[in-house]
Amino acid sequence: MTGSTVLQARGLSMRYGDERALVRAVDEVDLDVPAGQALAVMGPSGCGKSTLLHLLGGLQRPTGGQVWLAGSRVDTMSERALARLRRDRIGFVFQSFHLMDELTAVENVELAALLAGQSPGRARKRAMYLLDRVGLADRAAHLPSALSGGQRQRVAIARALSNEPLVVLADEPTGSLDSAATLEVLRLFEELRTAGQTLVVVTHDARIAAVADRVIAMRDGAFVDDNRLAGAVCDGRR
Ligand SMILES: Nc1ncnc2c1ncn2[C@@H]1O[C@H](COP(=O)(O)OP(=O)(O)OP(=O)(O)O)[C@@H](O)[C@H]1O
Ligand SMILES: [Mg+2]
Repeated sequence: MTGSTVLQARGLSMRYGDERALVRAVDEVDLDVPAGQALAVMGPSGCGKSTLLHLLGGLQRPTGGQVWLAGSRVDTMSERALARLRRDRIGFVFQSFHLMDELTAVENVELAALLAGQSPGRARKRAMYLLDRVGLADRAAHLPSALSGGQRQRVAIARALSNEPLVVLADEPTGSLDSAATLEVLRLFEELRTAGQTLVVVTHDARIAAVADRVIAMRDGAFVDDNRLAGAVCDGRR
């Protein structure tokens, strides 16, 4: 792990409603994610995991506090700069995959690179490389409707990697998968971790902890526990 910090938050807060019905979805959270760390944020439904991820990835603006990605202040960025940041520096993975139904697997993966201005030839080559990396080279021409849930999520992960993101942010990536497909996706996250990809995965699935080197427990918008698992847990699993 290098010393540089990829993601940083200070006093990060997201509140909804007014005094009569105030929801502290994220409640003054401080966070430092070093480069190469695979972080799992776990907690029960409604504790603020998705909101936290949206704030970290510039999908939502906090009501308080600050966020930096690789030293750039995220919470005060213009919408245009945020869109560029999300496209170029962050790979998002969602529970429901968010693939384009009418595009093939390879077209889904190359889309972000094309939007970022890459030549069609290079974008296709990289998309094929990424599909191969997630074990789906032979499904490149399939539409999402012709793929299993686990395969769809692996396409979504290949897409998230297309612009070599500084960080992959995943929200319940195994939330709509059966246990066999969950294992496929967990194995892939494990490979990304080994390759040094910085990862933040939020979930209420305890199995995600198996691919993390740090697990933060969240309750009512706050961090209640922070465990670095490097070494011990990994060795125990193998
Ligand atoms: N637009 C909104 N207006 C008011 N309250 C909201 C809004 N969005 C989220 N909340 C509340 O914020 C809290 C955190 O929601 P969030 O979606 O981040 O939880 P979560 O941990 O991701 O839950 P799950 O595991 O079910 O996905 C919840 O109490 C939720 O009801
Ligand atoms: Mg959620």
